[in-house]
Amino acid sequence: MKKSQFISDYIIYDDEKELSPLDAELMRQAHEAVANSYSPYSHFHVGAALRLANGVILKGCNIENAAYPSGLCAERVALFAAQAQYPDVPIEAIAITAHSESKIINEPIPPCGGCRQVMVEAEQRSKCPMHILCQGQTGPVFAFDGIETLMPFIFLTKFL
Ligand code: THU
Repeated sequence: MKKSQFISDYIIYDDEKELSPLDAELMRQAHEAVANSYSPYSHFHVGAALRLANGVILKGCNIENAAYPSGLCAERVALFAAQAQYPDVPIEAIAITAHSESKIINEPIPPCGGCRQVMVEAEQRSKCPMHILCQGQTGPVFAFDGIETLMPFIFLTKFL
């Protein structure tokens, strides 16, 4: 018997001004995407923007439904739209943010487990690690290089 560890590195930027111009623009568009969020039940407005290897940027927002599980997270709206429209183009980066109606969120908003699993499959499909940027309405930006840094011991297609 032996003990093991999961260790992940990530970068903390003080704010979006420290990002590269490309990533700052992606985060700006994630914040813009929040405006289209349909979240009458949670009042939690999530925006995502992803950049493809061909430079195209696609946005997503959370869309809720009265039948709660029928709604979808902002990240998956963007990830599925990208794969539906550009199935052969790798997703280079995704920026995620959230705004709440009841408070200013000033800490990074991480993607949920379901969205992480979808990122895993997108990376596997394209054989290209994704750069993942998370920010609240304001405040620091956390940057993760590849989904494995956010999701260790992943369920992979090779297990099937
Ligand atoms: N949500 C996202 O859009 N992304 C996540 O990664 C976590 C949660 C949405 C789903 C729901 O509309 C609202 O936030 C509250 O959970």
